[in-house]
Amino acid sequence: PAYRDFLAALPKAELHLHIEGTLTPEMKWQLAGRNGVSLPYASIDEMRAAQNFEAPDAPGYLKKFIQHYNEGMLVLRTERDFYDITLSHLARCRDETVRYVEIMFDPQPHLMRGVPFEAFFAGMDEARRVGARDYGVESNFILCINRDLPLDTAHQALGAAAPFRDRIVGFGLDSVEDGNPPAKFTGLYDRARSEGYRLTAHCDVDQRDAVGHIHDCLNLLKVERIDHGINCIEDPALVDVLRERKICLTACPTWRPIDAMPRRVDRIRTMYDLGLKVTLNTDDPGLFLSGTLGTLLPPVAATGNFAPADMAAFMINAFEAAWLPADRRTRY
Ligand code: HPA
Ligand code: ZN
Repeated sequence: PAYRDFLAALPKAELHLHIEGTLTPEMKWQLAGRNGVSLPYASIDEMRAAQNFEAPDAPGYLKKFIQHYNEGMLVLRTERDFYDITLSHLARCRDETVRYVEIMFDPQPHLMRGVPFEAFFAGMDEARRVGARDYGVESNFILCINRDLPLDTAHQALGAAAPFRDRIVGFGLDSVEDGNPPAKFTGLYDRARSEGYRLTAHCDVDQRDAVGHIHDCLNLLKVERIDHGINCIEDPALVDVLRERKICLTACPTWRPIDAMPRRVDRIRTMYDLGLKVTLNTDDPGLFLSGTLGTLLPPVAATGNFAPADMAAFMINAFEAAWLPADRRTRY
């Protein structure tokens, strides 16, 4: 109980969270009703049962997970929807002493179903302002490209983001990795870099050529952060590079089912013991049973046999790697 209290009060930061993945079944059902979007389920329980997919660490899980994630997005239609889901998340951050969060969003699917950039971004950005003012939770946005959608839609999304460039700190890459390796995005990353975005990219868990993808993200895309990246421990030379360059790795010890967790936590323990700048993140708290950062940390501490100082070190890593001006990074 004392350890739980310590974790509950610990000032936290999260660097890997998708706003579309914060949608819980309840919110999805409610927004579908509000927007007249028909979902292929007779009841919320039926939807919940259908969503009860499992995501063990195997190459095929990501595609299955993304199908559910994409279905959830269909209910997001208006500026108010994006305001509501963003502010709901920031309220949970306040309740769990999460002081800073970097929020990823996927513009392409929203644009492709006719939601203008200025609509979804205005909703998210207003929630960011209100969350900072009323909840004391600071946040920043990372525009994420869905790597499995046509490359020209990625360029269109970057173009649509241009008027809001000063309010979007970073640029990332997510969705189905198999068949969409980093090398495909060299030109896109050159453009994002020239426009001044900070750069990250997903190298998801146990993907085909996972280690090669991490190398390519560093050397071709020239990212300063890797999302997931836990397969790096398979390559000692790569570990040396990541450690020397203090590359932040945003690991996600998420689970569903629960027995998928120990293998991820073991590998995060190895990363930590190797001296890598690794952080703990929830990725998609509405979809994974591991939930939000507040519910994730206690079982991770127990499973990984992490001491309170270790858990604090994970949070310090996140605050240090935060895309905030240097003078505001360590004030927590
Ligand atoms: N990996 C790839 N795509 C995603 C993820 C992820 O962790 N979360 C949401 N979209
Ligand atoms: Zn992710």
